[in-house]
Amino acid sequence: MKPIQKIKQPILKEMELFEEKFKESMVSQAPLLNRITYYIVRRKGKQMRPMFVFLVAKMVSDGKFDERTYRGAAIVELIHTATLVHDDIVDDSNQRRGFFSINALWKNKIAVLVGDYLLSKGLLLSIDNDDFDLLKLISIAVREMSEGELLQIEKARKLDITEEVYFEIIRKKTATLIAACCGIGAASVGSNEETIQKMRQFGEYIGIAFQIKDDLFDYTDDKIGKPTGIDIKEKKMTLPLIYTLNNCSKKEKNWIINSVKKYNKDKKRVKEIIAFVKANGGIEYTHQKMHEYKNKAIQILNEFPDSTYKSGLLTMIDYVVDRKI
Ligand code: IPE
Ligand code: IPE
Ligand code: MG
Ligand code: MG
Repeated sequence: MKPIQKIKQPILKEMELFEEKFKESMVSQAPLLNRITYYIVRRKGKQMRPMFVFLVAKMVSDGKFDERTYRGAAIVELIHTATLVHDDIVDDSNQRRGFFSINALWKNKIAVLVGDYLLSKGLLLSIDNDDFDLLKLISIAVREMSEGELLQIEKARKLDITEEVYFEIIRKKTATLIAACCGIGAASVGSNEETIQKMRQFGEYIGIAFQIKDDLFDYTDDKIGKPTGIDIKEKKMTLPLIYTLNNCSKKEKNWIINSVKKYNKDKKRVKEIIAFVKANGGIEYTHQKMHEYKNKAIQILNEFPDSTYKSGLLTMIDYVVDRKI
């Protein structure tokens, strides 16, 4: 059995119902929007965020769940989809989930508005059902994601990113939403504030490991359904490169910075930078950091009694760092 199928096993029924809700929640009066959302629903992703919502909800409540949990799962996937549509505009990326991105097919003008539409539908799904506690959790994530993306752009312009700022960026642009998924899972079944915050922390740790894995993909030629090798092209310096910059000679550092600044679109030069990072331990160091965060997440889970849902989450954690896409 594929790891993702194994994770889904204890929540198969929930995931099926979620898909229906997710589809329903996108319907619009505008024909163009319906064509685009039809395209989005057909090319679905791994759906890890709704899985986090269901597994956490069930783990903290002994297998219980609520209508609110379904809505929570639909909300997080809607917001996630919205941010991917916007992210591909920001990153000038033409491929997503193994096919063309929305901006590649319909251009930026339309993609911006589709992203806004999905974002508003996500927020309204909470408002229309008076899920204000869930709305608060998701809104924190929406705010932090924008801040993280903007901080990343600022650092790409100045090329002065440090390891500390890198972690701040990935916590905000990626981990905050996974933290919200886990917080929402717990809140949707009426957990107390302490449990909600504990699950948010768990989601944040695993979210950081998740983005580190994504940044490692960029240093490979793996077929992951979206472009690789584009971070340097976009002047995005991620952990493998930051580590290398901190652990080489001044001359080498100047060469790297100069290359990223002026030769970022030169494919041969980008390949040389990647080779330099690989030869200087940047990948090993990054792997090590990813596992540190993975272990922090496991420590939190270990405070909970064993259950099929806890095992599902543990498999999920392994999947985050071992996944092939
Ligand atoms: C991609 O997330 C965006 C990042 C935060 C790296 P996923 O890898 O979960 O995307 P899909 O939904 O499976 O396509
Ligand atoms: C992921 O950003 C975070 C968000 C979508 C906000 P990336 O730009 O690193 O993710 P991919 O690699 O395009 O999925
Ligand atoms: Mg991006
Ligand atoms: Mg991107």
